[in-house]
Amino acid sequence: MTDLVVHDASEVVVGPDGDGGLDVRENAAVVVDDGEVARVGDTDAVTREYPPANADRAVDAAGRAIVPGFVDPHTHAVFAGDRADEFATKLRGKTYQEILAEGGGILRTVRATRAASDEALLTNLLGHLDAMLANGTTTVEVKSGYGLDTETELRLLDAIGRADEQHPVDVVPTFMGAHAVPEDRDADDYVDEVVDEQIPAVADQGVAECCDVFCEADAFSVEGSRRVLEAGRDAGLTPKVHAEEFTRLGGAQLAADVGAVSADHLLHATAEDARALADAGVVPTLLPATAFGLGADYADPEPFREAGSPVALATDFNPNCFSRDQAFTATLACVEMGLEPAAALRGITRDSALAVDRTDGTGTLREGAPGDLVVLDAPSHLHIPYRFDGAVADTVVKSGVVVHE
Ligand code: NIG
Ligand code: FE
Repeated sequence: MTDLVVHDASEVVVGPDGDGGLDVRENAAVVVDDGEVARVGDTDAVTREYPPANADRAVDAAGRAIVPGFVDPHTHAVFAGDRADEFATKLRGKTYQEILAEGGGILRTVRATRAASDEALLTNLLGHLDAMLANGTTTVEVKSGYGLDTETELRLLDAIGRADEQHPVDVVPTFMGAHAVPEDRDADDYVDEVVDEQIPAVADQGVAECCDVFCEADAFSVEGSRRVLEAGRDAGLTPKVHAEEFTRLGGAQLAADVGAVSADHLLHATAEDARALADAGVVPTLLPATAFGLGADYADPEPFREAGSPVALATDFNPNCFSRDQAFTATLACVEMGLEPAAALRGITRDSALAVDRTDGTGTLREGAPGDLVVLDAPSHLHIPYRFDGAVADTVVKSGVVVHE
């Protein structure tokens, strides 16, 4: 028996068309069988072959568009505490770095996170995943990094693993012990701890897939970041880099050198950096909601596109950037970074799947891809960036099962 037939959609976005556009089918249907896309095509032909009455579940998508489930490849979604007051402080003119230097920002979330119970951390994360799923996200990367000691980093990765088991959203776990230098610690000393203690413990427990580092003037130097990423890579963790966000330090070149799967932020990356990333197959990942929240400048996608790279987009959801909505990321990418709607949709689907090393068709609706899709409350995919009221996703399907409607 077929899992799911979604029929009579005004359009189905299958994925990138190879020419920089999108393969869009009109009056189309999608069939999911065994959790995978079995068929996409004209509704009449598809429903003759797969009658909706014979499916476990049929959805009439008349007048509505179907797109691949969104992939959010960069979040810091497991934490405790509240930093809404820092939002107000920043509006009065204090900078993100000044707040961090005074022990606020990441360090404040670290204190609240260390003090929280395992149950509270899991409950918080599940709530965030619920909000993401309701907005159409079916795969999300979640980083640890608010523990900054072995015990708490492992607790965070455990919460991420348990959330992945309990929640329909697929979670890609990333270890980010090198997210900030803990209070009263020397950066080199702390890198020693990450390399000698944290990474071996994480690898031993098999609880992370990637290893990320904040390569930035006030955080980790290029050399310190390289040590972390190489140690992670030697332990089987795929490198990722927070690079060139506030300054151009060399994180993009480092990402290319260590064969990272993505380099993220990249506000101050140059055309030369973009070419290095493209040559090394590192996926540039841009985070327009971070700039929006900080009232800062946006990254320029053009050098990366010119270099021939996919361009992934992410929410960067964290206590400093409270967005759990990839559709809003697409809006910002169009309005503030000049992307075409088709490029923005690729950025939150296929290109973002590549940024978390999902090369099995995730982020597309090609036959054989995971059966993850969103039926929009709208007639075309243009409504994803066009609307910004958090209500464009109607029915969300994960592996052929309706998980939100
Ligand atoms: O990607 N830059 C470092 N990490 C986050 C911010 C985390 C925080 O402020 O709590 C980021 O923007
Ligand atoms: Fe981040």
